[in-house]
Amino acid sequence: MIPFFKTTITGNEQKYLQTLLEAEDGLAGKEYLSKSEKWFNENHGLKNFYLTKSCTHSLELAALLLNLQPGDEVIMPSYAFVSCANAIALRGATCVFVDVHPDSMNIDESQIEAAITPHTKAILTLNYAGVACNYEVILPIAKKYGLSVIEDNAHGIGAKYKGRFLGTFGDISTFSFDHLKNVTCVQGGGMAINNPTLFERFYVTYEFGTNRRAFFKGDGDRYEWKGLGSNFPLSELSAAMLLPQLEVVKDINAHFINSWNLYSEKLSDLATEGTIKLPLTSEDFEHNGHCFFIKTKSAEERTSLIHFLESKGIQAQFHYTPLHSSEFGRRVGRFVGQDNTSWEGKTILRLPLFYGITASEVETVTEKISEFYLK
Ligand SMILES: Cc1ncc(COP(=O)(O)O)c(C=O)c1O
Repeated sequence: MIPFFKTTITGNEQKYLQTLLEAEDGLAGKEYLSKSEKWFNENHGLKNFYLTKSCTHSLELAALLLNLQPGDEVIMPSYAFVSCANAIALRGATCVFVDVHPDSMNIDESQIEAAITPHTKAILTLNYAGVACNYEVILPIAKKYGLSVIEDNAHGIGAKYKGRFLGTFGDISTFSFDHLKNVTCVQGGGMAINNPTLFERFYVTYEFGTNRRAFFKGDGDRYEWKGLGSNFPLSELSAAMLLPQLEVVKDINAHFINSWNLYSEKLSDLATEGTIKLPLTSEDFEHNGHCFFIKTKSAEERTSLIHFLESKGIQAQFHYTPLHSSEFGRRVGRFVGQDNTSWEGKTILRLPLFYGITASEVETVTEKISEFYLK
């Protein structure tokens, strides 16, 4: 049996968790939280990084910080996780979905300007599979029209665009450490506030909508409700699982990348003869191997291949259902452009990839895929 994914465990987590549990008042402290946040600021090109309970929470916090209101519009790829759209819809704002590039599944930057209206407030980008969006085009568009950028970097820890870390491109950038990500604390997230003007309201929103942080620092004589907010910070217990993984993120990502490269090499013949398509590679970016996908020629072919691999003990999975294709997506949003996304979403197939997958497991998967196409 080759599973689609196994949660990353490096072997160092137990020691950190044990130390935390044995320390007096350890769980009430913030040692692992602050060390993890510091890690991002020192090693991921960020200045203001904060841990949250999940990337979903980070996206919701981003929408609050941008003060999105009913009538406001946010442009985003339709091929995205539902939390991206929920964060916008929860504020009563409208999701404006556009197409993705077939070879990266990232927002097609050439579709953005046509979707801009006087109500547009932000562009939400998603670095799908840890592959960078085309920020060289997207950021100038955002600047030209005075729009904020929310960069959903849930997949992209350690990945780069033109030498610069992903997570540094948005006014706000979000991260996920859920159980399916390269680096995980089972459920957790993060956010980088890269635009200092948004920082002023950050702590209030992050900590219950109160002046808690300022008050405990001795600033102000009342601890009170200041505005909309929630209980966003991650727990110390989760941070004690996250930190040991952050400390070896290069090794974790190297394992993902090596396995990704092996898939690419072993499937290159099928791609060259036009049987399947492989994901984009480019000198413009360094991905982190988060996800390896192929494209089949049709949805039916993908279903047959999934069943064939399943019969050989291999789990392969499709991914998002394009958001604009759901009834709710149409209620809270609209699609602008031609819609290649529905087709592309039906032909993508993700192959098993996780920390600890062996070269021989990757080769088995590729051999079975070749066998399927020889049938
Ligand atoms: C692109 C993207 N954004 C956000 C999320 C939500 O992350 P979390 O599970 O940390 O809430 C996911 C989850 O897989 C995702 O793929």
